[in-house]
Amino acid sequence: MTLVPKVIGLVYLSFSIACCDTENNIPDAPGIPSIATYFGTKGRYEEVNPYLINDILAVNETLPLLPSTDCRAVHLTAVIRHGTRYPTTKNVKKMRHFYDLVLSSASDWMQNVSLSQWEMWYTEDMDGRLARKGQEDHTHLAQRLAKSFPTLITEQNLRSGRIKMITSSKHRCVNSTIAFKRGLMTYFNIEGEEFDHEVNDALMRFFDQCDRFIAEVEKNKNALMEVENFHSTPEMKRVFEKIADRLKVPYSAITADMAEAAFYFCAYAFAIKSVNSPWCQLFDYADAQVMEYADDLKHYWKRSYGHEINSKSSCNLFHDVFTRLDKAAFDHRSGQVSEAVTVQIGHAETLLPLLTLLGLFKDITPLTADNFAKQSGRAFRAGRIVPYAGNLVLVLYDCPEGSRLETRLNEQPLMLPKTDTYFPLLEEVKRHYAELLQGCDQKAECALPHVRPQTAV
Ligand SMILES: *[C@@H]1O[C@H](CO)[C@@H](O)[C@H](O)[C@H]1NC(C)=O
Ligand SMILES: *[C@@H]1O[C@H](CO)[C@@H](O)[C@H](O)[C@H]1NC(C)=O
Ligand SMILES: *[C@@H]1O[C@H](CO)[C@@H](O)[C@H](O)[C@H]1NC(C)=O
Repeated sequence: MTLVPKVIGLVYLSFSIACCDTENNIPDAPGIPSIATYFGTKGRYEEVNPYLINDILAVNETLPLLPSTDCRAVHLTAVIRHGTRYPTTKNVKKMRHFYDLVLSSASDWMQNVSLSQWEMWYTEDMDGRLARKGQEDHTHLAQRLAKSFPTLITEQNLRSGRIKMITSSKHRCVNSTIAFKRGLMTYFNIEGEEFDHEVNDALMRFFDQCDRFIAEVEKNKNALMEVENFHSTPEMKRVFEKIADRLKVPYSAITADMAEAAFYFCAYAFAIKSVNSPWCQLFDYADAQVMEYADDLKHYWKRSYGHEINSKSSCNLFHDVFTRLDKAAFDHRSGQVSEAVTVQIGHAETLLPLLTLLGLFKDITPLTADNFAKQSGRAFRAGRIVPYAGNLVLVLYDCPEGSRLETRLNEQPLMLPKTDTYFPLLEEVKRHYAELLQGCDQKAECALPHVRPQTAV
């Protein structure tokens, strides 16, 4: 500590008052790591909407306007990813390996970046749990949505059960759901009420129940070949070497898992504690872009366009959404809409297949191990699409000329493929998705092709 200038001591002191759910003595600086936009699915929601940094309850008042002032909002469906979480047990193990390496072979580097007092505070029992920041992600999102849709997210609708909440059974999702409800209760200034939610894994964790996806993608190493191949490209090798050079350890010590763990030390410190950790100094912009691409490749092949079954495994969720929109449109014409708002809380792995099925963020050229440079302007950047608390919001309006559908992703206007407006007619949207609406049978899609029903002997 004697080498650390006094001023750092002061910064550290004020920081430890401002934060801390976990005790430790990191000399982290408050602030945003310069590479924060490259954290992919470990990225903060505020990176997508930077105006939230100044005012977390701000909503964008200059979004595109409805074609007519005679339109009335009749239903809203939101599919939301859980909030900021701690690393999973698997990732904490990787982080511990990397930490052990640095501790035993790079103590000089730790000293140089003021990490010599740092204690390893990531533990396996964190198990991907929702962080306090993750609860806030949801309480704040709930309040911003209530502000944005004041005729749908109302106290009356909440009290009369017309706001329905459905969640994945994972603790981080259930806790996000609870935090979301708390956000609404705070917004409407209601105390001591209980509002139900439903747990539904068939809808929110469909990927666990799709045999074909499990066999052909999840358990099939070849399915993620591009991800594996990317590790031996010159771009990726350069990142490994630069980390080794900074730490002054042999090149052979830095594997893909080690580099990933190093990136996590930077990303999680920022996501969970809003600090710019000295671990971030292991990466520059160029390195972070390569790390982001490695993560995007994984999501592309495991959850998105890489394999057709990835998106087809979400057929039930797709039908669920459109059936609800139809019902709301019908109910509205014949009196009252019984479900004004549906909030569905799941995972990045829930949202990505659904967005893929809808044909969104599709690049002309697939993401592969050998086209990193060509893909620098790609649409498929998971960190922009599904950061923590990433959300797809569909709003149905009754207009003089019929029902219109507005789509927002992360509170920004989103244009569905083949439309040229942010408020297409629902009938037009349904025409574009006619093939899926008439087919997309999850049971058939998820059946293993070569497994035949057992015939009784
Ligand atoms: C608000 O939304 C509009 C339309 O998408 C966009 O052009 C503008 O940049 C957004 N404002 C902020 C502060 O992000
Ligand atoms: C630590 O700093 C010293 C002095 O600047 C330098 O000579 C040494 O190479 C650095 N070591 C590492 C691993 O960065
Ligand atoms: C999250 O929910 C579980 C039960 O589902 C509970 O045991 C736990 O304390 C909650 N954690 C947080 C951080 O709220």
